[in-house]
Amino acid sequence: MSGPEGNAGGRDERDDGNEATETDADHELRVTKIRNGTVIDHVPGGLALTVLGVLGIDGSAGEVVSIGMNVPSDRLDRKDVLKIENRELTRDELDVLSLIAPAATINIVREYDVSGKHRVDRPEQVSGVISCPNPDCITAGNEPVSPTFDVLEEGVRCVYCETILGAEGASLTEHADIG
Ligand code: CTP
Ligand code: ZN
Repeated sequence: MSGPEGNAGGRDERDDGNEATETDADHELRVTKIRNGTVIDHVPGGLALTVLGVLGIDGSAGEVVSIGMNVPSDRLDRKDVLKIENRELTRDELDVLSLIAPAATINIVREYDVSGKHRVDRPEQVSGVISCPNPDCITAGNEPVSPTFDVLEEGVRCVYCETILGAEGASLTEHADIG
C-alpha cells in the first residue's frame, strides 16, 4: 500500500478531517481522569447542570465534581460529561437520569479503571422519585400513596391525576424528589 503522492501541504495523511480527530483524547485533556466514582457520559450537550440538579448535587456536601460541557462527540453532536468522585448512583437516581438523558452511559470507575459500564434504561413507570405538581392529586395529600408516573415518549404522566410533566429539563427537574 502506498500513500497518496501529493499529500497536500505535507499534512499528516491520517488527519484528513477536522471533526473526526477531535474526539476522546481531546476531551480527556479537558476533564482529567478520576480514581474512584461515577462518570456520566453522553449527556445531551448543555444538560449537565440539570443532571446535577436532579441528583441534588450542589457542592454543599463537599462532593468533588468535574464537568465538561458541549464537548465534541462522535455519537452525539455535542455532549456533556460529569465526573462525580467517590460516589455510585442509586437505582432511583438512575431512573430520573434516564428521563432527561436517555442516551447517557454510566461508567463506574474503581482505581482508575472503568469497572462497569451501562446505559440507563428507561423504565415504564417511575415511583417515588418525582412529585406531582397538582395540589389536588391524591399523592399531594396525607394518603400513603407514592407518586407514580407513566414514562411517555416525551415526559411523564401521573397515574392518579394524569398531570403531564414535560421532558424539557425544567419541569421534571423542579419536581424531582430523590431520597
Ligand atoms: N474515565 C475517567 N476516569 C477514569 C477512567 C475513565 O474519567 N479513571 C472517563 C473517560 O474519560 C470517559 C469515560 O470515563 O469519559 C468512559 O471511559 P472509557 O470507557 O475508557 O472511554 P470510551 O471507551 O471512550 O467510552 P465509550 O465507549 O462509552 O464512549
Ligand atoms: Zn398527580
